[in-house]
Amino acid sequence: MTRKPFVVANWKMNGSLKANDEWLSAAMPQMSGTRLACDVAVCAPFIYLPQLVIGFEHSATLVGAQNCAQYAQGAYTGEVSAAMLADIGCDLVILGHSERRTLFGETDETVAGKVKLAFDNGVMPIVCVGETLEEREAGRTIEVVSRQLRAVLDKVGILPLVSGALAYEPLWAIGTGKSASAKDAQAVHEALRAVLAEVDQEAAQRTRILYGGSVKAKNASELFAQPDIDGALVGGASLKAEDFLAICHCADSL
Ligand code: PGA
Repeated sequence: MTRKPFVVANWKMNGSLKANDEWLSAAMPQMSGTRLACDVAVCAPFIYLPQLVIGFEHSATLVGAQNCAQYAQGAYTGEVSAAMLADIGCDLVILGHSERRTLFGETDETVAGKVKLAFDNGVMPIVCVGETLEEREAGRTIEVVSRQLRAVLDKVGILPLVSGALAYEPLWAIGTGKSASAKDAQAVHEALRAVLAEVDQEAAQRTRILYGGSVKAKNASELFAQPDIDGALVGGASLKAEDFLAICHCADSL
């Protein structure tokens, strides 16, 4: 089974109208049409999504949000629903990122509920799982990421993940410059695919599992060469168009 590599930029809470325009101008010569062989997405703060939807109009690049509300609609001041994301032409949404889980108290249950709302509204979810350094050192990595994944599978099944992606992001590797080794990451990806296969063997083979955590052009090729690593969720190195494109090219040359 060959899965098309998928490289996703996660800008987090960075950017401005001007900086985003500069990013688009630098990237579009290489991103317009279907010039890149891999699938590509850029996930930006809510307020900049319309700018990106227009900016990527003549490109196969997908536009994503980084969160959505856990409620469908109503009196939830300050929240943005999955239906609203679909309404403005947003293709996908990152859900369960560790920064949302640890800083904003999102539980496995909240994440699963958001995945359901996103998928029901036609917005493809990128579901993040990952362990802390403490959990890794206690030998609990597989147990923790399997629990996080099963919470989603139990609520919505595997199809939302086939449409979007699953992302393994060890917390100790995010923004630290300390990437997991390709071998360690592969072992976790293989275990995650086995959990997916408990639900549906064939769909598990079709689900893309991305690695995230200090991915740069210099470590991307080795990560992408692993049989169960199907792309990357890129934070820091996605803020400059050239750095992000260099990672996309590593996926292109697979
Ligand atoms: P990083 O972030 O590439 O800066 O480590 C990855 C992420 O949090 O998605």
